[in-house]
Amino acid sequence: MNPLLRRLQPFSFARLRTLLAGVAANPELGAINLSIGEPKHPTPAVVTDAIVGALGGLSVYPPPLGSERLRDAVSRWIANRYGLEGVDPATQILPVNGTKEALFSFAQVAIDPRADAVVVFPNPCYQVYEGAALLAGATPHYVEQSHDTGFRCDWSAVPRDVWSRTQLAFACSPGNPSGSVMDLDQWGELFALSDRYGFAIASDECYSEIYPDESTPPLGALQAARSLGRPDFPRLMMFSSLSKRSNAPGLRSGFVSGDASLIKPFLHYRTYHGCAMSETVQAASLAAWGDEAHVRENRARYRAKFDALEPMLGDVLGITRPQGGFYFWARVPGGDDEAFVKGLYAQYNVLVLPGSYLARDVGGRNPGRGYVRLALVDTETQCIEAARRIREYCQTTPRTQ
Ligand SMILES: Cc1ncc(COP(=O)(O)O)c(C=O)c1O
Repeated sequence: MNPLLRRLQPFSFARLRTLLAGVAANPELGAINLSIGEPKHPTPAVVTDAIVGALGGLSVYPPPLGSERLRDAVSRWIANRYGLEGVDPATQILPVNGTKEALFSFAQVAIDPRADAVVVFPNPCYQVYEGAALLAGATPHYVEQSHDTGFRCDWSAVPRDVWSRTQLAFACSPGNPSGSVMDLDQWGELFALSDRYGFAIASDECYSEIYPDESTPPLGALQAARSLGRPDFPRLMMFSSLSKRSNAPGLRSGFVSGDASLIKPFLHYRTYHGCAMSETVQAASLAAWGDEAHVRENRARYRAKFDALEPMLGDVLGITRPQGGFYFWARVPGGDDEAFVKGLYAQYNVLVLPGSYLARDVGGRNPGRGYVRLALVDTETQCIEAARRIREYCQTTPRTQ
């Protein structure tokens, strides 16, 4: 067996199941689950119709590079979304089966397992960064992204000797769980560090299409690179997905784009890894990237939920409206996130995720402790009902701290 497997921590949802084992949810109330970031708005017809129309694609092995048509469509989407003309579909774009798969496998390509490698990423974060680092034989370095840091990663807090061993840095913007968006200065700082120490940057942008203000979409990493005079995106790879944008988490479709000298070895790796996107999924993806109407509609639904819930929860939980994504990252009264989650489940049958499960203890401090993550993925009616129960729970349950 690969001994590195023993270094993997249980997933946050497995820890949630353990926490709630033996706890009975209030049987008089219907269950509402806000713990998982799985979009529940219907997958649009533009995607489902395209799948049905392309079932013939199941009869062939797809090439790892994907079709030219799909890569062209992604290049057009990047041009429209980020104002970036000329991203080369032949050398700078690769379809992948969702960002999870790609973020993980990219680490296996970017890291030299013989070296004393470090992978830098935010804390709290999407747990796959950690697993990808560990299984690539690297050591994780966690960068706090908390209320105390304004929910930004303070890259300057990373010691120089850590940067000098760093081979890969993950960034997530809009972030999970806080929804914070990296600005041009932060990107500039990270690019300068990458130039100095030579590490690759993986920019996870799977929440990029969910944001509050139609006129201000979140800045993307490639866009930041171009603005800062880095037209070929040196050592930079962005990861994008249809899972949240098009309510299609089961489609397993996304793309990576960036530095051609990273795409090439990644493609080579993938010819062995065997994660080529089926032609049926490629057809649906082509249709999805070419349609913005369903994406605008999707954003409007999330906006309506945030509008409704913010005034309901604002005075009982510490919340701020996220810059992107569909989570409230909420500070709980009393500061004990596990106790809060357990009590809410037992008394009100609402499931949310303890923030400490999304973060790691560093120097005796877990920056997710005292927070819970609320995924506003269910219908507006269900989300409002959940907020009503959370409000009542906060108002009626005495806190000891
Ligand atoms: C930050 C982040 N990155 C990546 C993913 C994976 O998304 P997918 O593989 O569906 O594109 C998720 C899923 O919730 C996520 O929260």
